Amino acid sequence: MVSDKTPETKNTSGRKSAGKNNSFRPLTPALLAKMRDIVSESFLLTDETARRNHGHDETEDLLFWPDAVALPANTQEVSALLRLCHAERIPVTIRGGGSGLAGGALPVAGGLVISMKRFDRIIQIDVRNFQVTVEPGVVTEVLQNAVKDKGLFYPPDPSSRGLSFIGGNVSTNAGGPKAVKYGVVKDHVLNLEVVLPNGDVIWTGANTLKNSTGYNLTQLIVGSEGTLGVVTKIVLKLQPHPTQTLLMLVPFRSAESACAAVAAIFQAGVTPSGLEFMERNAIDWAVRYVGETPVPIDDADAAHLLIEVDGFHVDSLMADCATITEVLENFECGEIFFADNDAQKNALWKLRRNVAHAVKRNSVYKEEDTVVPRAELPALLKTVKDVGRKYGFESVCYGHAGDGNLHVNILRGALDERAWTVEVPKGIREIFRFVKSVGGTLSGEHGVGLVQRPYLDLVFSKTELRLMRQIKKAFDPRGILNPGKVVG
Ligand code: LAC
Ligand code: ZN
Repeated sequence: MVSDKTPETKNTSGRKSAGKNNSFRPLTPALLAKMRDIVSESFLLTDETARRNHGHDETEDLLFWPDAVALPANTQEVSALLRLCHAERIPVTIRGGGSGLAGGALPVAGGLVISMKRFDRIIQIDVRNFQVTVEPGVVTEVLQNAVKDKGLFYPPDPSSRGLSFIGGNVSTNAGGPKAVKYGVVKDHVLNLEVVLPNGDVIWTGANTLKNSTGYNLTQLIVGSEGTLGVVTKIVLKLQPHPTQTLLMLVPFRSAESACAAVAAIFQAGVTPSGLEFMERNAIDWAVRYVGETPVPIDDADAAHLLIEVDGFHVDSLMADCATITEVLENFECGEIFFADNDAQKNALWKLRRNVAHAVKRNSVYKEEDTVVPRAELPALLKTVKDVGRKYGFESVCYGHAGDGNLHVNILRGALDERAWTVEVPKGIREIFRFVKSVGGTLSGEHGVGLVQRPYLDLVFSKTELRLMRQIKKAFDPRGILNPGKVVG
C-alpha cells in the first residue's frame, strides 16, 4: 500500500524543500511530443497506471507522481532526452528495478522518469580477462547466473537481487551478505559509460584492474544515486566461482551476545562469506511470510547468526567451521544447525532474504541502514533498543553483522502521525549520533536518497557538504537530475 504524497504535503524535517526548484518548468504537450520523437510513441507513457507504478519504490509508503515515463532503448536516446530536459529545465529521475529503500527513485519534483528497463543486455562476458560488460537494466540475479554458467562469480548479492537492476546496485553502491568477504559493488566496478545531464557521453575509467590515471570518476558515480549522470554501460570484474559452501544457523539466548560473537570470529582468523544477524522477530516473521520452517526455533532464542564459509576445498571449510564453533561456545550459543544439503541452504537463505518483505507485511516501517565498525555492533543494538524505549517505538533489527551493517526497521504499528513524523525522527537522530560517535555512518548500502537527507548534518561537516554540492553542480549545473536527493 502506498499513500499519495507530494513534496509539499511532507512535513518531516528537511523534506519540505526536497526537489523544490523554482526554475523547473512544466512538461508541456509540445515537450512530450519531442520526447515521443526520441523514444517513439509506445515508449513514452503518460497514463495514470504507468505514472503511479513509477511514483514509488519500496520505501515506506511514499508516492510522488511523475508527469511522464520514458523507456529509452539506448545511450543515444538517453542523451537526447537529457539534452532536451537540460535545455528546458525539466526534472528527471532515473529508475531501475524499484527495490530501493531510501527513496532514491522517487520523482519528488514530478517531471520525467526515465526507466532503464530496456537496457537489459549482457553485452560481453570476457572470460579471458574475468570481466563482464553489461547494461544497467539487467536484473542482478540474471547477471550472476549468466556469469556462473561460465564458472565465474559476481559476488554482490543484495536481498533484492531477483528484482533489482545492476544499474540500481551501482547507483546505491549496494552490498548484500557476501560483501563481508568480497566487498560491495564499488569493489567490482572497473568502468562506466555515463550520460551527463547536458547529454554528453563519457567513460569514467578503463577496463583495467589498476588505474592511477587522474581523478577517480568511476568511484564518484558509484553510489551517487542518479544525481550526477545516467549510467548506460557497466564493466565489472569477476572471479572464479567458489565450488563449496558450508552454512550454519546459530541461536543465542541474548541478541547482544550474538552481536558480540561477530568480531570474535574474525579475530580467530576466519573470514566468512556471509555473517548475518537476525533478531527473533525477523526470523519468526520471515518463517511466516515464506511459509516454510527449515529449522525448529526454541522459544528462548532471542536472535540468530547465519554463517557461511565458501571456497574450493571442503576440508579447509570444515576447519573454518570448527574454529567458528569454538569461538561461538564462548558466547553462550545454543545448538548449532548445520545445513547439510543445497535444499536446506537455500531454505535458510530464503528466510534471510525475505526479512524486509516480511517486516513490510507486518507494518509500514522506516528502514535505517546503520553501519559501525563491527566490534561496536553490540553497543549499536543496545542503543537502538534504548532509544526505542525512550521515544516509544518498536524495531526489528537484522543485517550484515560481519560488516557492522545493522538494518534497523522502525515499525509504524499503531503510532499516530505525530509520533511517526516528529518523535521517531528524533529517535533516529539519537541513533545516528551514536553511530557517528563510534566511527560509523548512516547508510552502509541503501543510500541517502530522500529519506536520509535530513540527517546528513550528523555525519558531514558544512565544508564536506559544500564540497559535495560543488561536485553536484559541476556535473549538473541546472540541478535537473534526481532533484531533492542526497545533497541536491
Ligand atoms: C537486506 C536488504 C534490506 O539486507 O538490504 O535484506
Ligand atoms: Zn542488506
